[in-house]
Amino acid sequence: MTKEKTDALSGASMKHEEAETTSPWPGPKGMIPVTSGRADDANVHNRAYLDSILVEMRIIDAVKPDLKKQIFGQQFASPLMLAAISHLDTIYQDQGRSPMHEKAMAAKKINVLNWIGMESDEHYQEIIAGAGPTVRIVKPFADHDEIVKELQFAEKLGAVAVGMDIDHIPGTDGNYDVVDGIELGPISFEDLKRYVHSVKLPFVAKGVLSVSDAIKARDAGASAIVVSHHHGRIPFGVPPLKVLPEIKSALEGSGVKILADGSLMSGYDAYKALAMGADSVLIGRGILSELLETGEAGVIEKLTKMNQQLSEMMMYTGVKDTESFNRSVLHM
Ligand SMILES: Cc1cc2nc3c(=O)[nH]c(=O)nc-3n(C[C@H](O)[C@H](O)[C@H](O)COP(=O)(O)O)c2cc1C
Repeated sequence: MTKEKTDALSGASMKHEEAETTSPWPGPKGMIPVTSGRADDANVHNRAYLDSILVEMRIIDAVKPDLKKQIFGQQFASPLMLAAISHLDTIYQDQGRSPMHEKAMAAKKINVLNWIGMESDEHYQEIIAGAGPTVRIVKPFADHDEIVKELQFAEKLGAVAVGMDIDHIPGTDGNYDVVDGIELGPISFEDLKRYVHSVKLPFVAKGVLSVSDAIKARDAGASAIVVSHHHGRIPFGVPPLKVLPEIKSALEGSGVKILADGSLMSGYDAYKALAMGADSVLIGRGILSELLETGEAGVIEKLTKMNQQLSEMMMYTGVKDTESFNRSVLHM
């Protein structure tokens, strides 16, 4: 593929040949994001930052930890949650599979919280049939009445919380994004307040990557935020864990729950996010291969392994439960 690039010394633009990033995922090109390895890919910086965090040991008096976590008024087996990963059902339509439903059922069996993203209301209802607790994330549609309709529908169906992925406003062409032919649009502080107050449920602002947005989300009445860049929507995005501590101190005393995601592929990664101050973490691409290959069983196996790794790290660092994480064990 020929691409415009700038010469490192002169800054002049020049044409160059660039190898396409090959996708390990099934489905149409671009449907499941692929980490390119290039510097503008924020996932690369997530990985480097996570791997640069080292952990000291506090083993004397340490015991096997309790992983239970209370969030949105319910108790779960672990602070690990299954992130919203939409569009997957179209890949397996002809095989009669619904990875989205399989993921929802896996979450129920191991008692972790499942998140659902961009799906029609009808499909969302099918996905969660017989499943456990759900957080429903609605896109920042240009049509604001559609947003309120989807939020209120989720409330009617018994979601434990609702929210919006506010980081999905820009597309890659400098305009507002268009997904599946549906236009997205800007969301003001006043809009956010309207959505928060359109339901009685806790509202989550997903895709906060600055103290500035964290404060606006808090002031709009959000009960929780997800510190995230949505698997690298913004080029050169700062790793969520890098901004997490300053966001946490800015929100101190507000009661707003702080969740995080971004390249958390193992229980060790999840541990680092929790030790940095996240109340809970979302796992997206960390379960994607398992979900697509072996469905419900694959997700259960991966999450069980991640919980074991989390427990191992908590025990090594003397953390007895999910309310007792301590950032001072981390060496940056
Ligand atoms: C295929 C795919 C679809 C996604 N769809 C949504 C969505 O509809 N709504 C949303 O809020 N996030 C969506 N996400 C973003 C994830 O919830 C998560 O924020 C992101 O992938 C970062 O976590 P990870 O690094 O563990 O994958 C999607 C992610 C993937 C990989």
